[in-house]
Amino acid sequence: MSIDLSIIEKDNNTLEKKFKGIIQINPDLKRSLVSFQANKALAGYRWYKFKEGYSSSLVEYVLKKLNIKNGALIDPFAGSGTSLFVANENGINAVGIELLPIGQKIIEVRKKIIQNSSKKILETLKIWLINKPWISEKKAQDINYLNITRGAFPKDTEIFIGKYITSTNKEKNPDIREILIFVFLCILEEISFTRKDGQYLRWDYRSGRGEGKNAFNKGIIKKFDEAIVNKLNQIIEDIEKTNIDIKINNKKIDTINGSCLEGLKKLKTKSFDILMTSPPYCNRYDYTRTYALELALLGANEESLKKMRQDMMSCTVENKDKNNLEESFSKNVYRNVSKAFNGQKVLQDILKYLEQEKIKKTLNNPGIVRMVKNYFFELSLIIFESARILKKGAYFVMVNDNVRYAGINIPVDLILSDIAQNAKLKVEKIWVLPTGKGNSSQQMGKHGRQELRKCVYLWKKL
Ligand SMILES: C[S@@+](CC[C@H](N)C(=O)[O-])C[C@H]1O[C@@H](n2cnc3c(N)ncnc32)[C@H](O)[C@@H]1O
Repeated sequence: MSIDLSIIEKDNNTLEKKFKGIIQINPDLKRSLVSFQANKALAGYRWYKFKEGYSSSLVEYVLKKLNIKNGALIDPFAGSGTSLFVANENGINAVGIELLPIGQKIIEVRKKIIQNSSKKILETLKIWLINKPWISEKKAQDINYLNITRGAFPKDTEIFIGKYITSTNKEKNPDIREILIFVFLCILEEISFTRKDGQYLRWDYRSGRGEGKNAFNKGIIKKFDEAIVNKLNQIIEDIEKTNIDIKINNKKIDTINGSCLEGLKKLKTKSFDILMTSPPYCNRYDYTRTYALELALLGANEESLKKMRQDMMSCTVENKDKNNLEESFSKNVYRNVSKAFNGQKVLQDILKYLEQEKIKKTLNNPGIVRMVKNYFFELSLIIFESARILKKGAYFVMVNDNVRYAGINIPVDLILSDIAQNAKLKVEKIWVLPTGKGNSSQQMGKHGRQELRKCVYLWKKL
């Protein structure tokens, strides 16, 4: 039976009515709070600009609102570890799961700087700043490239990178070596021809990897020396200014490197007081592409990159079905998730509609149907498994965006909230970010379509 837009609209209205009163605009949630922007001036958080991160102030805001002062926090999509570090600063233990090696590295190094005697680290960083060993180094180590990152740096920069890596290898202490490599990872984008831009890594016209007539000019490409000196200075300043090692409050950060589809299963039932996270959005954004430079320098090859992409939560058209899911979850969880997923009417109608559009060849990419389907199924598994590890009364807080495909708005917020109710999670609030761009009817007039909601969901474990 074919399905038309009016049916989806009707189901959608029913779902909106169900969550009436729960879904509310929260004027406190400025866009800068929910994006990385507010971290740009903050000690520790500003070292590596993880553009998909949220701000530490958002985590502070949530902890304060929910009156959480101790216990344990879990973030299954830890990224650069914002939730984990803020939790620690507020006297809360934290566990983070992250799949991407660049996220793992950011967390690991920051932890080391906090937990080790920062005196020794400071001394070494200062010596590096004065001696600049990469300048006098004779040997430039070859750097690891992937097909999509070849030629990413100007020639002179590439030589300095090689010399910098050779110099770090001469440091005896492995923690110091790791920190020095991290300093360099923090400047990669500014010294390269590339810019992280949504789904892609964009290339500046000077790289010779043209984008034809849409040639892109990223503006100033920093010299290696200037960028690394600035970053060393910034990190030194932050360690000195904030005395970071006092802030830890004797609290722990534990990490699980790998997919949360696996990692969550290892955690004890009813052991966490809060979950705060932001999963990848269902927006085709490919982290393995935009972070390819960093991943290559951390040792990724074509094969491991492909595997990483497939292991990530499905959010790109390249993601294939994950075929081991049924065996890897308990029968009970898998059955309950399938029931909640298949019973979510708006989602099922949207999937049917997208399938129709795919057959008519009106979808931008035929892989969109599989991506949307798997996005919701995998996230449902994660929601059910997360509910298991939360204590009674604990909150599950998720930041996510709605998306639009084939002209239909997919209410990710309402669909996931509806599914969460099947996992013994009570939907308390869906905070919507104020758009600041006028009301939706003005939007409709201007753009012919509604603005997509950006939300923070608060679910409470029953
Ligand atoms: C929106 S970002 C989280 C950013 C984080 N809140 C922060 O402030 O840095 C989503 C993260 O989920 C990670 N990710 C994607 N699939 C994953 C999976 N299956 N298991 C664990 N992490 C995953 C991505 O690598 C990315 O770092």
